[in-house]
Amino acid sequence: MDEQAKKTALRRIPYGLFLLTAKNGDDIASGTVNWVTQTSFKPPMVAVGIKQDSHPYGVVKASGAFAINALGADQKDVAQTFFGTVKPEGDHLGPLTFKAGTTGSPVIKESPAYWECRVVGVLEQGDHHVFLGEVVEAGVNNETPTLLMRDTGWNYGG
Ligand SMILES: Cc1cc2nc3c(=O)[nH]c(=O)nc-3n(C[C@H](O)[C@H](O)[C@H](O)COP(=O)(O)O)c2cc1C
Repeated sequence: MDEQAKKTALRRIPYGLFLLTAKNGDDIASGTVNWVTQTSFKPPMVAVGIKQDSHPYGVVKASGAFAINALGADQKDVAQTFFGTVKPEGDHLGPLTFKAGTTGSPVIKESPAYWECRVVGVLEQGDHHVFLGEVVEAGVNNETPTLLMRDTGWNYGG
C-alpha cells in the first residue's frame, strides 16, 4: 500500500470535534475526540474510537458509560485544552462547568448539545478501541454549529 495515498484518502473522512467525558468513582476523565459516529436509530447508538493508553479509555471501560459533548464552532480553544489531561476542580473542568448526568458522566453546560451512553459493546482491535454506546440521555443548550475538523487545520486520521 502507498502510505501517502492511504493517509490522504483516509483524511477525506469529514469529522466534527467533541469532548468525551466519563466518571468512575472520583476519577473524572475527559478528552477531545473526533472518531464519533451514529450507528443505529433503534435503539439509538453511537460508536467512538478511544485511544487505548489514554485516561478516558480506562475510565469508560470501568464505568461502562460516557458522555459526548459537542464542541461549538467558537470552541476551538476548548478543543485544544482537552488534547491534554484536565483535572476537575469542583464543578469545573478547565474553562468549562459540568453537572453529573444520568449515567454519572460529566455533562458540559457550555456545550451546544450532548448525549450520554451506556457501553453495550467494545471492539478491542487496533490502537484505539471502538466503544459502542446506547444513547440513554440527551440535551440541547444552544444552536451553535459543531466545530469541524476541516475548519481547524488539524488532522487526526490517516
Ligand atoms: C485533533 C485530535 C483529535 C483526537 N481525536 C481522538 C479520538 O477520536 N479518540 C481518542 O481516543 N483520542 C483522540 N485524540 C487524543 C485525545 O484528545 C487525548 O488522547 C486525550 O484527550 C488525552 O488523554 P490523557 O488524559 O490520557 O492525556 C485526539 C487528539 C487530537 C489532537
